Formats: sequence, C-alpha cells, structure tokens
Amino acid sequence: MRTEKESINILGIETSCDETAVAVVTDGRIIKSAVVASQAKLHEKYGGVVPEIASRAHIEKIYPVISEAIAQANVTKDDIDAIAVANQPGLTVALVVGVTAAKTLSFTWNKPLIAINHLHAHLQSAIIDEQDLQLPAVALIVSGGHTSLYDYHSPLEPKLLGSTIDDAAGEAFDKVASILKLPYPGGPVIEKVAGKGNANAIKFPRSMLGKDSLDFSFSGLKTAVLYYCQGQDMKGQNKVGSMSEQEIADIAASFQAAVVDVLVKKTQTAAEKINAKTVLLGGGVAANTELRKALQQMCQVEPAKKLLVAPKQYCTDNAVMVASLAYHKFKAGLFADLTVEPKATG
Ligand code: KG4
Ligand code: ZN
Repeated sequence: MRTEKESINILGIETSCDETAVAVVTDGRIIKSAVVASQAKLHEKYGGVVPEIASRAHIEKIYPVISEAIAQANVTKDDIDAIAVANQPGLTVALVVGVTAAKTLSFTWNKPLIAINHLHAHLQSAIIDEQDLQLPAVALIVSGGHTSLYDYHSPLEPKLLGSTIDDAAGEAFDKVASILKLPYPGGPVIEKVAGKGNANAIKFPRSMLGKDSLDFSFSGLKTAVLYYCQGQDMKGQNKVGSMSEQEIADIAASFQAAVVDVLVKKTQTAAEKINAKTVLLGGGVAANTELRKALQQMCQVEPAKKLLVAPKQYCTDNAVMVASLAYHKFKAGLFADLTVEPKATG
C-alpha cells in the first residue's frame, strides 16, 4: 500500500518532432535520468525536419533510449509509478512512436498512463526548480512549431492568450538561416553569427498586428530578410554568396533583434493585461541569450516581475519536462487510457 510520503517516479517519453527523449523524474523535480537522441544531423541537409525521416529515426531510437534512461536512473520497472508521453501537438508520424511505446509499457508493466501536452510541458521546464511560484504568470512558449502566450494559473490549465498566425519564432530562425545558407537548426547558429553583427544595421519590420493584439506574425519578417538578400519579390540577384561575413552577421543580428523586440513587447502587454507577478519562458528559442536578457530587462520595469526560464539544456525538446508535468497530473488523478491518440494540434 502506497503511503503519502513515498516518492513518485515517472518515466516520460517525448517524440513530437526530431528528438527521441526519455527521462525518469521523481516527484516532478528530481531528475534521475534524461536521455536525448537528436536527429538534427539527419535533417540538416533539408534545412528543416522531414516527417518521414523523423518517424523512422524515432522507431530506431525509442527502445535504446528508454533502456538507457532506465539504466541511468538506476531503477527497475517496479520503481516506476507511471508512464507519461507527449501526445500533442507535433508531427503525428513522430508522436505516434512515443505514444505507442508508452501505451505498450503501460499495458505490459501495468502502470497508469499520462498524456501530456508538449507545449504545457515546455512551460513546466521553466519551473521545475521553483519552490515559490508567484501567480498569475504570463508564459511565453517559443519553439520551432509554436509561439504562444498563456495566462498561467496552474501547471494543468494554462489559458491561451495569443499565438502565431503564420510562422513560429523558431521556424523563422530556421528559415532565415536557410536564406543565409547557414546550417539547420538555425536558432543556435543565427545567435552565434549575430554575436559579431550590428543589430541596428538593417531596420527589419516588427509586425505587432494591432496595439493590443497578443498574436504573432513572423512571415513578413522572414520575407523582408529574403527580399533584402535576393531583391524585392526575389527579382534581384541572390547576394548571399557574395556577402562578407560582416554583412551576414549584420543581417542575423538585425533579424534576431526584430524577433526579440516583438516577443518582449507582446509579453509585456500580456503581463499588464493579467497583472502577472511572474514571467515564464520555455521552448527551443528560449535558449537565445538576447531574448533572455531582453525579457530580464522587461521584468525589471515596474511593477517588477520575476523571470523564470528553463535551463538551456531543457529549453529544446526533452522528456524531463514531460515527466515533471506528469507528476502534477498524477497527483490530480488525471490519467489517460490505452485509446489515447497522437494529435497534430493542441
Ligand atoms: O522546442 P524545440 O526544441 O522544438 C519544438 O517544439 O519545435 O525548438 C526548436 C527550435 C528550432 O527552431 C531552433 O532553431 C530554435 O528552437 N532554437 C533557437 C535557439 N536554440 C534553438 N532559436 C534561437 N536561438 C537559440 N539559441
Ligand atoms: Zn518543443
């Protein structure tokens, strides 16, 4: 018979995009193991994630990654209290691999199954170590597939305030990297190149979609970079090949500054709207130092807010965030059954 004092070990699985990740987390915050097999190299030559390749690579890696996570955590199946899996949103053909693995473990080990929203899990990665979370919080998710703002009152029910109407922030980084002939994934490399550039060199557009809008649009910015490099309506010559390193760095820095400006202004508007005491930042783009710095500055503006950001290794896709959020669902008795399906949206 389980007593209240015993700790809860959850095995989390994440396969929503191009990382096969498994983690064992105790009580939502003690990380026993965190294994990630990245497929970035497989997708690099295509400049983005190819769903069919992602799916096959997940199939190949899922079993070794689960085994490794269990071995590193130094646990057996008897120590595991539940299996959690990100089942939405993401690439359906990728999600299905994690969902099938989780259902199989749940059935054969006779453990409860917990379905996790991948985006809500990204938010969880910002608060894993926080003992004194002041609510309400405004939460910004910036990933390869999503740019969303939430009114956050509890880990279980973030309320969507706004999201991108076209490209996600990370997607814009990836596409601009591709325009500049830089490798995939674009975010880290743009950040690096931008470090040597002048952020005021080119005035790229900041699309705000109206004064009070909490939605985002980054496709105009991406197109502005494209036209800058290849002429209006792409009717000019592609200048990227003949550009100096400095010119490329200036474009990268000016683009990055435009993205950061929009993200910070919208987060500020959302924070005012809900009187946020805390700002949460998660998702792959949250690894960006300029964004972290700018949000930190924003949070110092009165009324001051506390910024909580995921540690860099847990900004991009991982299973720690899945297992950690699952702990809250476990405590609330929110379990899934074996009919749970992967869902592209959510
Ligand atoms: O959250 P994530 O791992 O996957 C999705 O859920 O989409 O985010 C991946 C995205 C990619 O678009 C990548 O270019 C971007 O995060 N990214 C960054 C940085 N590191 C990763 N963007 C800007 N700066 C970074 N340092
Ligand atoms: Zn993600």
